[in-house]
Amino acid sequence: EIKRRWLAFFESKDHVVVPSASLISEDPSLLFTVAGMVPFIPYMTGLVPAPYGRATSVQKCVRTLDIEEVGKTTRHGTFFQMNGNFSFGDYFKKEAIAYAWEFLTKSQDEGGLGLPKERLWVTVFKDDDESISIWREVSDIPLQRIQKRGMKDNYWSTGQPGPAGPCSEIYYDRGPEYGRDGGPIADEERYLEVWNLVFMQFERGAGSGKSDFPILGELPAKNIDTGLGLERMAAILQGVDNIYEIDTTKIILDRAVDLTGIKLYVRVKSSGGSCTAVDTSSGANNLTASISCPTGINEVDANISGLNVQPNPMTNGAVINFNTAKAAMYTLRVTDITGKEVLFKEIEARTGENKIAMERNNLTAGIYFVQLNDGKFSVTKKFT
Ligand code: SER
Repeated sequence: EIKRRWLAFFESKDHVVVPSASLISEDPSLLFTVAGMVPFIPYMTGLVPAPYGRATSVQKCVRTLDIEEVGKTTRHGTFFQMNGNFSFGDYFKKEAIAYAWEFLTKSQDEGGLGLPKERLWVTVFKDDDESISIWREVSDIPLQRIQKRGMKDNYWSTGQPGPAGPCSEIYYDRGPEYGRDGGPIADEERYLEVWNLVFMQFERGAGSGKSDFPILGELPAKNIDTGLGLERMAAILQGVDNIYEIDTTKIILDRAVDLTGIKLYVRVKSSGGSCTAVDTSSGANNLTASISCPTGINEVDANISGLNVQPNPMTNGAVINFNTAKAAMYTLRVTDITGKEVLFKEIEARTGENKIAMERNNLTAGIYFVQLNDGKFSVTKKFT
């Protein structure tokens, strides 16, 4: 239904509906189709004249750029579909922003998605004041819900030489139960990115990561490349916490549970909700922690009652003990003093005491932080 509405909306705005291309990219620089724009790269670089000025598609994607995030968040998948609208030297920022606002906020009876305007937030590239003016002109979003970000977050390319440009992203506020106040710059689990509008205007050269590359110059024309995550939008509209539990994926998981008899848990780490971890440390080798929850313990479905790290200098390893009120899934994350993750594990914990051994090659002498998290609340402990 979301796909149908999407294609109908952009068709009504004179876009040619283009079927999804193969998941295996034809672009020689990419193994997989990482975004909806990949099949259109030759039109953006000017290598092939665009057969139309405007196009729309729902493209199957494998996002190799974000593959390390899969399994750690509620919003990244190995496979996803991207609803896109594209302009090849036709319209630019103003229309792209106006179409996005219209589609998201128009009522469902009128063919939109009917999202409440007060839930929407926007980010723009740090130097792009023009986009802020356009947002103010074509939408009624208040200035306080527009935030600026740098290259890493608001400048998009495939990760390879080719088209690139600053972008403006649209986020949906899932509410305080998902994380901290303060907009997308504060918490991307609570403020879920749903739509990226890329102003494809430049050509980038070789380099690594999301920001370490040169801008070689302007593309022959100013293009638009947008992508709305189909599964993320489905999660919002279906009122589920994560993209794995939307209707089209849940039936597969339910069947796997039936066939294997293994209970399904979907749990992710969070920033700790509204809980306060209280340190009752009693010495370097005998650390314990307890948790108190100002909003009422009943909201915690698995209360973490203790965490005890016992470093073993003989092996350079450590044993982590924790007590739980209830059997549940936990994530255990250990970081060094620079914030580098040395261990990340999902643990199916028993009621009562649990022991987790950390292998010796994960640790050298130093200061570490261990964080145990049940998806809503977390305990963090330091050990040496
Ligand atoms: N290419 C951009 C992205 O994948 C917008 O479609 O996020």
